[in-house]
Amino acid sequence: MPTAPLSHAAVDAATGGMVTPVAQILSLGAYLPDAVLSNADMERMVDTSDTWIVERTGIRERRRAAPGETPSVMGARAAAEALERAGNVVPDAIIVATCSAETRFPSTACLIQQKLGLGGMPAFDINAACSGFIYGLSLADAMIRSRAAGTVLVVAAEALTTIVDYTDRSTCVLFGDGAAAAVVGTGGGGGGIRALRCAADGADADLIYFGARPEDPGGPHALRMSGRGTFRTAVERITDVAARVCADAGWHPSEVDWFVPHQANARIIEAAAKRLRVSMDRVILNVDRVGNTSAASIPLALHEAAASGRLRPGQKIVSVAFGSGITWAGLAFEWTGSPSR
Ligand code: ACO
Repeated sequence: MPTAPLSHAAVDAATGGMVTPVAQILSLGAYLPDAVLSNADMERMVDTSDTWIVERTGIRERRRAAPGETPSVMGARAAAEALERAGNVVPDAIIVATCSAETRFPSTACLIQQKLGLGGMPAFDINAACSGFIYGLSLADAMIRSRAAGTVLVVAAEALTTIVDYTDRSTCVLFGDGAAAAVVGTGGGGGGIRALRCAADGADADLIYFGARPEDPGGPHALRMSGRGTFRTAVERITDVAARVCADAGWHPSEVDWFVPHQANARIIEAAAKRLRVSMDRVILNVDRVGNTSAASIPLALHEAAASGRLRPGQKIVSVAFGSGITWAGLAFEWTGSPSR
């Protein structure tokens, strides 16, 4: 299966050796709702057990947005933190990744723009489900490398608890709410994005979708997922794309300081790490506390790792994601921000 790289080497060649700006993550922000939905809470809602959930997924609790705590509200909080940490920069564009927007239109990006008191710059949403943050970064990277923008705000915000079916034990235990944001720009003192790949295969669109149950086409719409098929495909895709972005960046997986994968299920991450021969002490995991937050998952994990001081400038980081579409994506970058950013 081909995965189209945004080939940095090809762009450099096409521009006749002109130095192309390197996009960097300059700062991060995050927001999690206060309300915790524990496995004990799930036991009271559906026929499940803490033991089953922990053994099959690694999840112990997730966050649930309060009424009114929409993706744009959470996303604006995360974005405000990221913008402040980047020195209150005014971005040239706002890109929001979400698959659980509070309204079909206007876009969540425009609602966040309004809440931040910004205006004028383009603002738009993308929907690549759990791969959305890396898809958003790939657009920001392309805008910066082509000099269409100097700074781009990439936000990922999800309220998945509003779209899961709380009568379906095989999906409702997995998902949580939250938002995170990154300011992408240049000049942060070295480092930056080395390789990016985004891919999709609509032939597997029915693996994970929002809609009615196949046996009840007129019934309620919610997040539906074929768990086993998703699991198998996810392990294959993220292992493959991790190896590809490492190769694109000229890195061997053993050189990578941190793997920050989409936090869907600890077993998927462990299976992919085993195939890549990466020990779990080099993998950032927070799925136990936040569950699967779809597009917000990778930047939330990055934010937590940065805040705890684990990410240091110059470290090599690989992120991989997989989600509805199906979509998948990989990112290789060197950490730029100081722990405080
Ligand atoms: N509690 C107790 N039992 C359960 C639960 C539950 N919450 N959910 C399912 N079961 C039962 C099933 O009914 C089944 O019972 P049966 O054998 O009597 O029929 C049994 O457990 C095994 O079910 P499986 O679906 O085979 O369980 P599996 O080990 O595959 O785990 C899971 C299910 C956790 C969903 C796993 O398949 C998975 O993580 N899949 C990938 C999810 C994912 O990565 N999604 C990412 C994309 S999300 C997005 O894009 C928005």
